[in-house]
Amino acid sequence: MIQQQTFSTAAGSMVNAPLFGHARRGDFLLADGIAHLNHGSFGAVPRGVLEAVQEWQRRIEADPDTFFRRDLLALLHGAADRIAGFLGGRGGDWAFVENATSGLNAVIASLRLEPGDELLCLSQVYGAVGNALRYHAERAGARIVTVAVPVPFGDPAPLLDRLKAALGARTRLALFDHIVSGSAAVLPIADMAALCRKRGVPVAIDGAHAPGQIALDVPALGVQWYVGNLHKWAFAAKGTAVLWCAPERQAALHPTVISHDLGKGFPAEFAWTGTRDPSAWLAVPVALDYLAALAADAVRAHNAALARAAAALLIDAWGTEAAAAPEFRAAMVSVRLPLSAGADRDAAHRLIDRLRCDHAIAVNVAALDRALWVRVSAQIYNELDDYRRLAALGPRLLA
Ligand SMILES: Cc1ncc(COP(=O)(O)O)c(C=O)c1O
Repeated sequence: MIQQQTFSTAAGSMVNAPLFGHARRGDFLLADGIAHLNHGSFGAVPRGVLEAVQEWQRRIEADPDTFFRRDLLALLHGAADRIAGFLGGRGGDWAFVENATSGLNAVIASLRLEPGDELLCLSQVYGAVGNALRYHAERAGARIVTVAVPVPFGDPAPLLDRLKAALGARTRLALFDHIVSGSAAVLPIADMAALCRKRGVPVAIDGAHAPGQIALDVPALGVQWYVGNLHKWAFAAKGTAVLWCAPERQAALHPTVISHDLGKGFPAEFAWTGTRDPSAWLAVPVALDYLAALAADAVRAHNAALARAAAALLIDAWGTEAAAAPEFRAAMVSVRLPLSAGADRDAAHRLIDRLRCDHAIAVNVAALDRALWVRVSAQIYNELDDYRRLAALGPRLLA
């Protein structure tokens, strides 16, 4: 049951809006006493979605043979049609994968690389995805070309210039993060993809954070592959991500696990990669119903406004800056800590652990440009008070 609140607009009319903030905490299993400021890393699943997952598990266990032999494929098609309604395109152009890492691995592993080929990515590529690029490049004798993303990010022009200069005759793939993990910047990927298109370079987008956090029409972006997590910002259960592939590229795209349906094409090959629990994927319609009942645009507007307020609070408390200008942010913001020495990956992980263990505050921390940046997320269950706890730590954070 979605609770609502009534408020008056500037024009004086009364409108109903969903009730956001701590009043929504009960929709989730989030433990009390913890400042949950890190929706971006692992998401949080509404109770109703978990119940739907469990209901699917019960149905499967009642008659596994009938479920897997007769029902599964049609059910996945139905869920994919819902994805198309949410993110654009046709259901047949979407496949389910377990997570963004696995979807992007499939795209990279499906390339036919040759010695001397180049794979292009951004300096802030997500670590796991950077590793996948390196692994496949090394096996083929190809090389990685990195385009530096300015920190803070406030003007696309230098990034677009660097990208133009980095695209070459041997570039076989450009892989861009839609919302960068470390800086939380929402990048102008349609413009970046347009540059690549002019040079005949296919583009894969790591949209791990995008579905639900920003409005999306994936086929309109002009890219060849798009991978998005639904278990972060679309309220799906963990292990739920989707992979879109442009029709002309589908014949060459295969899952990393080759199974019975090799040769049946996309997305059929992805539907069966061995026996697994498909319950989280089949519960996607319930997750999208939850988002729709709250109104996806109202959720985005609430989260973006709360993230802006949180940014102002932290910037004021620490006397620093955000890693992306407001027009390049959505429901997350990374704010620089006022120190520079020892700002490496290990220091970032130590700080995450210290905040979690000593202060019961869950955040992400990244080392960028010789500084540490604390990333906070804003979700419907958050209120500004949650961020005050972090802001108040001040110098103790740096001890
Ligand atoms: C940009 C980016 N790509 C990929 C991932 C990996 O997502 P997953 O663990 O769901 O594969 C993340 C996780 O936060 C991310 O931020």
